[in-house]
Amino acid sequence: MNLPLSAMATPGLFISFEGIDGAGKSTHIDALARAFEAQGRAVTLTREPGGTPLAEKLRALVLNDTMDAMTEALLVFAARRDHLQQLIEPALARGDVVLCDRFTDATFAYQGGGRGFDLHTLSFLEQLVQSKRGLEGYFVRQPDLTIWFELAPDIAARRLAGVRVPDKFEAQPAAFFSRVSEGYLQRLQTDPQRFARIAAANSRETVWLEVLRAVRQKGWLT
Ligand code: TYD
Repeated sequence: MNLPLSAMATPGLFISFEGIDGAGKSTHIDALARAFEAQGRAVTLTREPGGTPLAEKLRALVLNDTMDAMTEALLVFAARRDHLQQLIEPALARGDVVLCDRFTDATFAYQGGGRGFDLHTLSFLEQLVQSKRGLEGYFVRQPDLTIWFELAPDIAARRLAGVRVPDKFEAQPAAFFSRVSEGYLQRLQTDPQRFARIAAANSRETVWLEVLRAVRQKGWLT
């Protein structure tokens, strides 16, 4: 088969970043974007919920309005569908490195772990929303690598205290974040190859070196 040149170009990469609120993802996401750009890669920086005009509207609802856990899960997945269709899939098709601040693991951790919503329903929604037609039929889109910044909830709470007005999730008690962490751990256990688990209590420099190591191990940065 003769593939067009674009289909043979550098494949896109999809990297997600996870952790409880206060785990300190943001600076490392920006630094990683610069590292990829320095090696000539085009980077799409994005976040969830959000990343498109529609998904950002849904984000505002999810982060600020009180709603039951199923409504919350449906809104998060609706935002994800739009984000995948409008932004992530086109960026991957162009060969971009997509760096996404949170993805579906956050739904399993926050709505599943934190709020106790049914994990089977979340799995069903994941299959539905992330299914994508590829060259060999349908597959479920997942990040190629997920960097999990693991931090004890009490340390995260101290980091967040006084920094800004907390949103709906940031205002939750420590027990909520313990369940969120447990949710992340369960997700890691179902797909350990996809995850890099990084101890986020260490210094920023140490954490950055771990982030770099995880990406280099995949052969994506020299
Ligand atoms: P966050 O990514 O921490 O952004 P910021 O740094 O601007 O606060 O905030 C997003 C919040 O949304 C966070 O508390 C986790 C929550 N969330 C869910 O509950 N479910 C999801 O599926 C996603 C992606 C995020």
